[in-house]
Amino acid sequence: MRILILGGSGFIGPHQVRYALARGHQVTLFNRGRQAEEWPGRVEELIGDRNGDLKALAGREWDVCIDNPTTLPVWVRDVGRVLAGKVKQYIFISTISVYDKNDKPADETAALAPYAGKDAMAETSDTLKANMGLYGPLKTLSEREAANQFGQAVTVIRPGLIVGPGDETDRFSYWPVRLANDGKRWGDTILAPGPGSDPVQFIDARDLAEWIIRMAEARTFGTFNATGPAAPLTMRHMLEGIAASLGAHAHMIWAPTAFLEAEKVQAWSDMPVWIPGQGETAGFHRRDIGRALKAGLTYRPLKTTAADTLAWFRQQTPERQAKLRSGLTPARETALLEKLAHKKG
Ligand SMILES: NC(=O)c1ccc[n+]([C@@H]2O[C@H](COP(=O)([O-])OP(=O)(O)OC[C@H]3O[C@@H](n4cnc5c(N)ncnc54)[C@H](OP(=O)(O)O)[C@@H]3O)[C@@H](O)[C@H]2O)c1
Repeated sequence: MRILILGGSGFIGPHQVRYALARGHQVTLFNRGRQAEEWPGRVEELIGDRNGDLKALAGREWDVCIDNPTTLPVWVRDVGRVLAGKVKQYIFISTISVYDKNDKPADETAALAPYAGKDAMAETSDTLKANMGLYGPLKTLSEREAANQFGQAVTVIRPGLIVGPGDETDRFSYWPVRLANDGKRWGDTILAPGPGSDPVQFIDARDLAEWIIRMAEARTFGTFNATGPAAPLTMRHMLEGIAASLGAHAHMIWAPTAFLEAEKVQAWSDMPVWIPGQGETAGFHRRDIGRALKAGLTYRPLKTTAADTLAWFRQQTPERQAKLRSGLTPARETALLEKLAHKKG
């Protein structure tokens, strides 16, 4: 196949490129050219800008276009004006943040987040950055614009938290790094969130990327939640699984949700991956993935994701490794553990 990847040099893009090349496809990338990559094969690299410069795409045809970085409906509209009728399939990478509510387990038919602004087509990367609450609503409208532009030829992929080698947010990496505890930066006791039984869902970027290429090969259309693993996983099993895969010592203290809330420890950012499994967020990590499983989504074992993520992190510069972008600092974790012990004692 001739595959056009819009935004192929970010986090998930390079995994798509490598898998597509390995399966014998012809790959073209389109981005601003800010990050050079060494590809293991011939890749055509087109330079342009989703904000108004799509000249490099004009007059060309591909079997499939995968649109990775888009959150703005105007980006979908503009690319549709150039590519509609020129590609047989348009795969839009959306997000599970499109859902309006997270209070119960739900499938792809759940209600989507409404947009309350004045003009969605006037939203820009800057207006989004200034108000990240627009992320879900603008992804929702981008999905809709994909249908306006490409009709039935659309595949919408809604990933949950994407993790693994190359993740610059550390929203999963914190745990393998914390559990491995290189250089003994943290203490021996690990603060873990909630009762341990809260569910967690996430997807290895490579599982996602490879499945997207197979969705193109199979020309599968429709809308799919894309998170994992296949069988339900709890926070406790995730942490124990990561620890076991690294051969790490894991003496965990499980901090009650109410304690964490009172201490303003934020779920997701301070305690990565974790979202309380009750109340308004009871369904967040219980998204139905039956459709994706039927369409061939497969998963690496957790131990592979954990080990590879840690190996990737250890290759980063010392400055990058010194300051994680998610999770608790060693000092904050120690202070919280002391408070918790005092409370219990
Ligand atoms: N990370 C998660 O946990 C998560 C969860 C759910 C859904 N998602 C979705 O997954 C998708 C993939 O994200 P990602 O992290 O791989 O990529 P990304 O950071 O969203 O995009 C990076 C890619 O897009 C290109 N790009 C950015 N701005 C551009 C512009 N103005 N014009 C042309 N190209 C541009 C970049 O290259 P240049 O800089 O060279 O232009 C790069 O190739 C996103 O749609 C995100 O919303 C992510």
